[in-house]
Order: sequence, then C-alpha cells, then structure tokens
Amino acid sequence: MQIRVVEGDITNQQVGAIVVNLFQGVTTPGGATGAVDRALGGAISKLIDDGEIRGKIGEVTLIHTLGQMIPARVVVAGLGQAIDFDADTIRTVSARVGRYLRKIGIAEVATIAHGAGIEGMDVFSSGQAIAEGAILGLYCFDKYKADSGGADIKALTIVESDSSRVKPLEDGVSMGTLLADAANFCRTMANEPANYMTPTRMAELALEVAREGEIGIEVLDRPKIEDLGMGAFLGVAQGSVEPPKLIVMSYCGDSEDSSNSLGLVGKGITFDSGGISIKPAANMGDMKTDMSGGASVISAMKAIGVLKPKINVTAIVPATENMPGGRAQRPGDVVRTMSGKTIEIDNTDAEGRLVLADAICYARSLGLDRLVDVATLTGAVTIALGKECTGLFGNDQKLIDQVVSAGYATGEKMWHLPTFDEYKSQYKSEVADIKNTGGRAAGSITGAKIIGEFTDGANWVHLDIAGTSRSDGVKGYNIKGATGVPVRTLVALTLNLSNI
Ligand code: BES
Ligand code: ZN
Ligand code: MN
Repeated sequence: MQIRVVEGDITNQQVGAIVVNLFQGVTTPGGATGAVDRALGGAISKLIDDGEIRGKIGEVTLIHTLGQMIPARVVVAGLGQAIDFDADTIRTVSARVGRYLRKIGIAEVATIAHGAGIEGMDVFSSGQAIAEGAILGLYCFDKYKADSGGADIKALTIVESDSSRVKPLEDGVSMGTLLADAANFCRTMANEPANYMTPTRMAELALEVAREGEIGIEVLDRPKIEDLGMGAFLGVAQGSVEPPKLIVMSYCGDSEDSSNSLGLVGKGITFDSGGISIKPAANMGDMKTDMSGGASVISAMKAIGVLKPKINVTAIVPATENMPGGRAQRPGDVVRTMSGKTIEIDNTDAEGRLVLADAICYARSLGLDRLVDVATLTGAVTIALGKECTGLFGNDQKLIDQVVSAGYATGEKMWHLPTFDEYKSQYKSEVADIKNTGGRAAGSITGAKIIGEFTDGANWVHLDIAGTSRSDGVKGYNIKGATGVPVRTLVALTLNLSNI
C-alpha cells in the first residue's frame, strides 16, 4: 500500500472511497465532513438526525454518492467522544476503516488528517497515526496459503487543504510507516512456524537488518557460548537439536560518548514445549511466538538503523528452542550462569529467565548499564493484567517512567508492578544460590526478580509481554496472532533518550 499526502479538496478525489469523520454528539458536521454533507444535499446530517450515524468510535457508515460527487463512495468514520480523542483513536479508526474498505474491494482511498490541529493533536502525529493504523490494521500473515483472500488496498491518499500542513503530514506518514513496518516485521517473525523460525533463521534475519542499517553484528555459536560460561542458556538449549545462537547487534550513534547507551535484551525461545516439565497439548502451538521479545528488539533495531539517533544501542537475543529429549536438562539440575551464580532448575518450563540471566550478564560485560529486557515470561502476567497491558518491572524509577511514557505515547500500555525484596524468599534454593521458580503466588514478580538477580547494578526495566505479544482476535489495529508489541515503544524510548 502506497500512502501519500496531497494538497487539495477531499470532495473531488478520483478514488473508490473518501473517508471523513464525526465526533460523537456532533449534530451539524463541520470542516471536510460538512463540505461532503453539503455536496450530498445534507445526507450526512439526515443520517445523524435519523440516529444511524452516531459518531461512536469504530462506527463505519457507507454512503453511495450516485453521481452527486466525483468519489463514488463516502465513509463516515466515528471518532468517539472528543474528550477521549488521542493518537490511538486515529490508529484504531484508520485500521477499522481500512479493513472495511478492503473487504468491499476498494483499491484506492482518500482521507482527511483526522483531528490534525485540534487541541493536543499536531499535524505530524495525525499523519503518523493514520499510517500506523492502516499498516498495522491491514497486516496479514498468509504466506503459506494458496488463496490469500481479497485484494489489498493499493493507495491511501491523505488530502489536505492547507498547504502549510502538507510537509509535517508527510513527515508524520514517513515516521508512522517506518514504525508500523518494523512492528509488522516483528509480527511476521513471531507468526512464522517454529520449523521455519529457528534460532539460525532469527540470526540470519538479524544479519539482514544489520546489513541494511549499517549496524554491527556478531552471532555467537555454541562453542563461544560455552567459552563465556553461559550454563543457564546452554542448559535450556541442550534438549534441542537446533543450535543455539547468541545474537548481538550494536548500533553506534554516539561514538564520542560510550556511556550514552541502551541495551535491549529479548527472549528468543523459538519454541517452548516446556522441556521435561512439558506443557499441556492445548494451544501449545502458540509457543512458536515465545521469541517475540527477541523479535521485538531486532525489529526495533531495523527502525533505529534508519532513524540514526544519537545514542548507542545494543540488542542481545539468546535464541534457542526449549525441548524435551534424552539430552534435555532435568528438574533438580543445577546450572552455573556466566555471572558465577548457580541456579537450581525447579521447572524446565521456567526457561526464559535462564536464557535472560546469561544474556543480561553478557550485556553487563559489554559495559551496558541501562537495560530493557523484553520477554514472554509468564502466564501469570495475563492473570494479573489481562491482554490489555504489558507488565513492567524495574529498579530505577527514572527509566521506568521513561518506558511507561514511551509506551503510553505509542498506544502500547504498560503497568508498573512491584519488586519488593520480601518476594525473594519464594525462590530460595537448598542446593544452589537460587532456584528458577517462585511458586504460584505473584509468578510474574518472582520471574522478574530472578532476572533482576543478574543486573549487577545496572538500571533495568523488564517487560513481560506474555499477554500483549499475541492477540486472540481482531481488535483495533491488531489482528489475531502476533501484535508486534513493544517495537514502537522501544523505538520511541530510544529517540526520547537520544534527545536528552
Ligand atoms: N513462555 C512461557 C510463558 C507464556 C505462557 C507465554 C503463556 C505466553 C503465553 C514461559 O516460558 C513459561 O512457561 N512460564 C511458566 C513459568 C512457571 C513454570 C514458573 C508459566 O508461566 O507457567
Ligand atoms: Zn517460554
Ligand atoms: Mn516456558
């Protein structure tokens, strides 16, 4: 889909459909909606009077113009209550309208910049949100299907009557396109079946991203991982015949100041069977997305390589399968991490924290002292927060606030949960320094704290995306399957940190 911005009049576009909007409670449409209403002899006002158009968020009303206007169809998109309006409203509306028009077979669409210039919504952000919503909302993963269904929308034109707003709209569209493409790259990595998206394939994709963005990359194989003493990572990997990979990407945006850095660490379990503590069969296939955290940091690097912010960013992904088998690690085993700390394996299904322990230790050995890790870590986070927001944990309030606000701005909600030291007793071991589980109570917190045992004084935030990295169905700009959370947050955070 091509998205462009033109100066002109929405009412005379040569397209299959034009999209205008309406806030809930407005009875006399103004602006572009008013102009279209007049061209249609008051059809929109009439439908508002009749109660058919109410302006509720997500409401889509199709009007056939039957020769009264150049465009053959008008869509009136509801924006909801004006008081609730924000960039996420635009993304949602853009996605819903896009899917509707694709379903009825429209190839070319023109729209106005929803809400641009009204209080709290600048023109750039409106363009960005329209592009993000359309690209995210129209995403499909259909490469394995012979018949992928209907045709795509080919062109989306944002029509702007004020020439001074064309440039900021174009810039916003470019930013939104870049971010949504990066999120969709993450979605596709995660949606790929595990027989394709192996640790080796993840490393190959990271290599491609690195080459395109002129980013440094090193992929460490098993012998190197052994040399580093990553016993926890290796313990998880030993049950699988797929070779593990430690993927390390380093973007250098500030060569003068090596302390201006951010480390992004992502869990890369390409399939989580649970290992010897094997998972139940129902929905086990979803565990192909257990590398979503790793995919998200590689995808963030894709956007960072284009945006070139003034900050050094290192992405680290410990990638392996978690499989049962004759060589697999057992409950009761003790592994020694790169840090020297030992971990008793209480449950082989608590593997994410094991691979992250060594990856974080590796990040520290590179001198990184500001870290964000991203992991589909616990089923418990979905019990606590549902699928609407990511569980966030950390040891530094400033970094926590920075991640939460970057998430809020992108529509990827996050909620800070506690990490009180009282929880430590839950993962005490009788044979090793700690064990890898903390029981059923506060499962996401003990998982986070076990990772936190390896941060060694670094400022650190942990994002548990087990609930948010997958959607059960079509919702707003997400469709069923991988969501690409938190790629856009990670990029926004990087940009924000680079400005300070
Ligand atoms: N990958 C899972 C967590 C998960 C569950 C992600 C559901 C997405 C959806 C993780 O490795 C895991 O198995 N966690 C265990 C931890 C437990 C054994 C302490 C869990 O949540 O049950
Ligand atoms: Zn897992
Ligand atoms: Mn697991």
